[in-house]
Amino acid sequence: MPLHVIVGTQWGDEGKGRFVDWFAARAAYAARYNGGDNAGHTVTVGKRIFKLHLIPSGILQPGVIAVLGNGMVIHPRTLLEEMDRLIQAGIAINPERIRISYAAHLVTPAHQALDKAQEATRGKSSIGTTGRGIGPAYMDKASRHGLRMADLLQEDFVERVGDHLAEANRALQRLGAPTLDTAAICEEARSWAARLKDYVTDASLELNRALQEGKTVLAEGAQGTLLDLDFGTYPFVTSSTTTAAGALTGLGLGLTAARDARVTGVVKAFQTRVGSGPFPTEILDDLALRLRGTGANPWDEYGTTTGRPRRVGWLDGVLLRYSARLNGLTEFVVTKLDILSGLETVKICTAYRSGNQTVTDLPYGATNLTAFEPVYEELPAWQENISVVSRWQDLPAAAKNYLERVQELVGVPLRMVSVGSEREQVIKVSHVGKGQRFFRCGMRSA
Ligand code: GDP
Ligand code: IMO
Ligand code: MG
Repeated sequence: MPLHVIVGTQWGDEGKGRFVDWFAARAAYAARYNGGDNAGHTVTVGKRIFKLHLIPSGILQPGVIAVLGNGMVIHPRTLLEEMDRLIQAGIAINPERIRISYAAHLVTPAHQALDKAQEATRGKSSIGTTGRGIGPAYMDKASRHGLRMADLLQEDFVERVGDHLAEANRALQRLGAPTLDTAAICEEARSWAARLKDYVTDASLELNRALQEGKTVLAEGAQGTLLDLDFGTYPFVTSSTTTAAGALTGLGLGLTAARDARVTGVVKAFQTRVGSGPFPTEILDDLALRLRGTGANPWDEYGTTTGRPRRVGWLDGVLLRYSARLNGLTEFVVTKLDILSGLETVKICTAYRSGNQTVTDLPYGATNLTAFEPVYEELPAWQENISVVSRWQDLPAAAKNYLERVQELVGVPLRMVSVGSEREQVIKVSHVGKGQRFFRCGMRSA
């Protein structure tokens, strides 16, 4: 099978990690193409919960080679900590299993400090970033004086880190923020080079070869479509290309690699968002607490990276169609359906209204969402605990009806549904409802 891209269709945290882990069971490579340790991807294997920030979630499947692509920005400290945690958990971590693109950029403590200082100056209009230095690292990349993984191999690497820190300290001073201890960070940088240099390689070359040999390359997106730098809810977005197209530029693949690509959109059964920005279907009453959870369960809606409570809302079919189009989805999977069990009814936003105008396609993408009011369709809910269900036919009729409606809105086939965080809590749906209502996707207008 050729390139297989897994992409978040909402504002991140859709459950991409668990599905990358699932699909990686049959892949040769799992490759991250964008973002940095702002991402937090969770995979639950039995009693063990792995939270991956930089290393692709496919690493937990033996035999898979994990690639950190050129589109990423990588904090070496976080990466080394993550490697150590995996080693402690018994996962093989060595240059045979992990490749880091020479062209990926470094995130440093200076980028993190700048991220926090810039957010502080934004005051009420802050983006609500993760504070991981992602924006400043991509700024350095775009302004052409960033540090790249290839620089770890150079003799003057530590000196260059020193220059970068000196410049960052001047910027921090201008922002009125505390400056950094240059000597200590330079010392640490020496160990980054020593421990990571053997992992640095031409990942693009290897991935292209693998595809030519017919091997499966799983491309793992971080964040979600609505956080994309160009097509998300700008300026409340991240600083990378989060859409499926980013898999090409972020891994060094040509357009022909996309020819037969499988593009799986991950859809959470309801909408969530961390940080600031518009959220048309946001729920602000007590129901929000019910969907978010208290934090007692590992899957409750609190940020994997920052621990911040996530905002929650009804599924937004208008934004889902937008995501399906932008990513060229060939199929989608739904996560966290179990969380909707026991509600009185479930709602889906099927259109937006502005004055007396109703639209199902957004006039200017995700810009100006606050100008619209969601139009909801209310569907019957189900009361059963579905977390034990493993076959489509055993789902309650109302749950199947909800998924069928979601499929109609997305316009491509639903392939799988997860009903719990465990690896095996997945229902395959490809064999269901042959030629019946289930496959009439895209027939009913939104
Ligand atoms: P990602 O960033 O897209 O990989 O998603 P996160 O890992 O940040 O957040 C998803 C959370 O939902 C994690 O805690 C997962 O273990 C959990 N999860 C994934 N799928 C399901 C599901 O079907 N049901 C439940 N209850 N939890 C799930
Ligand atoms: P995963 O891969 C959810 C959000 C932040 C903030 C905005 C910009 O786990 O789905 P940044 O630090 O990137 O400059 O912050 O993007 N954000 C995420 N939200 N999941 C993520 O990653 C996110 N990565 C960034 O909350 O609103
Ligand atoms: Mg996450």
